[in-house]
Amino acid sequence: MVSTHPAEVQNFGSKYLPQIKNNIEISPNQELLPLTAKINNQDYLEIGGCDVQNLVEQFGSPLYILDETTLRAACRQYRDSFKRYYQGKSQVLYASKAWSCLAVCAIAHQEGLGIDVVSGGELHTALTAGVSPTKIYFHGNNKSREELNLAIEAHATIVVDNWHELKTLVEMGSPTQPIRIMLRLTPGIECHTHEYIRTGHLDSKFGFDPNQLDEVFAFVSQQDCLNCIGVHAHIGSQIFERQPHRDLASVMVQWLTQATSHGLNITELNVGGGLGVKYIESDDPPSIEEWVKPICEVIQNACAELNLPLPKLLSEPGRSLVATSCITAYTVGSSKEIPGIRNYIAVDGGMSDNPRPITYQSVYRAVIANKMSAPCTETVTVAGKHCESGDIVIKNAQLPKTESGDILVVMATGAYNCSMASNYNRLPRPAAVLVADGEANVILRRETYQDLLRQDCLPERLKNS
Ligand code: LLP
Repeated sequence: MVSTHPAEVQNFGSKYLPQIKNNIEISPNQELLPLTAKINNQDYLEIGGCDVQNLVEQFGSPLYILDETTLRAACRQYRDSFKRYYQGKSQVLYASKAWSCLAVCAIAHQEGLGIDVVSGGELHTALTAGVSPTKIYFHGNNKSREELNLAIEAHATIVVDNWHELKTLVEMGSPTQPIRIMLRLTPGIECHTHEYIRTGHLDSKFGFDPNQLDEVFAFVSQQDCLNCIGVHAHIGSQIFERQPHRDLASVMVQWLTQATSHGLNITELNVGGGLGVKYIESDDPPSIEEWVKPICEVIQNACAELNLPLPKLLSEPGRSLVATSCITAYTVGSSKEIPGIRNYIAVDGGMSDNPRPITYQSVYRAVIANKMSAPCTETVTVAGKHCESGDIVIKNAQLPKTESGDILVVMATGAYNCSMASNYNRLPRPAAVLVADGEANVILRRETYQDLLRQDCLPERLKNS
């Protein structure tokens, strides 16, 4: 039922629906809701042709709902933008730390993307999803020997982060089968984002110190058990400015010259990820195309000036591929009014399925899936159900009058939610479904109480005491 309400509070949910402007393809990272979001004639939210309330009835709550169309569109836009603006070869890698699971890796792979992994677990997931090891790049500042071995045996490329790792690989490699590596370097570039997710500044735990470049290149060029094919840098995440990546691209071309002077044949250059996404109305990230284009231009111009052949250009976006493809549906339960102070409503999840608000003070927006056009008349704080006062999903959310049983949908939860989820307070982690063309498939089963106990061991002497 679409009711008639004063203009300013009317169509509360519809203001978040993606709108095509001037026939320009929508860049998913600039939207709050997935591209297939619709309000159906019952006034309920639909994603991928599936009614969100029905999904919750069928698969339980809380529920991650991943829209295949949006995820594929983001993959395609990255891939096509590099093809359009870069004259050399390019390869987009999905930074699977944003959400590592078989289905997401398989979709990225089907769209022609490779995968960036940062642990043995992510590597195992990508390999099991059928990703070719030639398209897997293994990151991390403290990989174990066991993890390195797994990567070497699989023939994935190892992105070497530091001297310790470099020397370990020299011990592990052999000249008959040189290990394919890239070097991660710290570019010394500042960008404006939360300090926990900034990585390119000099005081970073990641990568070789740029003041030691010559030493590193000289060392690597002497090792016949290593095949160093490229350089890598990543300056941070959730970045809206365009200049830092332009600066990065030009610094990285300088590195190519430096590496060449040491006799290294560097053919790949990886500019990392970092493109921001819209979480709230005022967030204004560049589109995927707008992010890719200047990077390509800077590299092409710099290579032309220096008379260098164009390297294969790699990038590894995570957040901008998956964040806005997914929503989290919760069920509203209790509420508490503190007159003159604050009104709370509580949902059946919180910091265990989305630790970003409590970790980075991240801000989200929500709609009520079963009241999409109801007037937005309340200011309420959406609390999680964990025994922790800081477990707040959204502070001062603007919502319609909300009752117990309503389905509250938090938008843009595809990146660093499921992958950072925990069992805090022994909450089973939610299920995830993939939706497309009116069909929903479970891609992650909801944990059961039995799952929670799977790793627990009770020593004999504690039994029956
Ligand atoms: N490459 C490397 C080496 C990275 O460290 C990262 C992210 C990426 C690529 C992907 O960056 P993206 O395109 O997603 O910005 N948990 C934090 C984000 C941590 C990002 C870590 N590295 C959050 O929830 O905001």
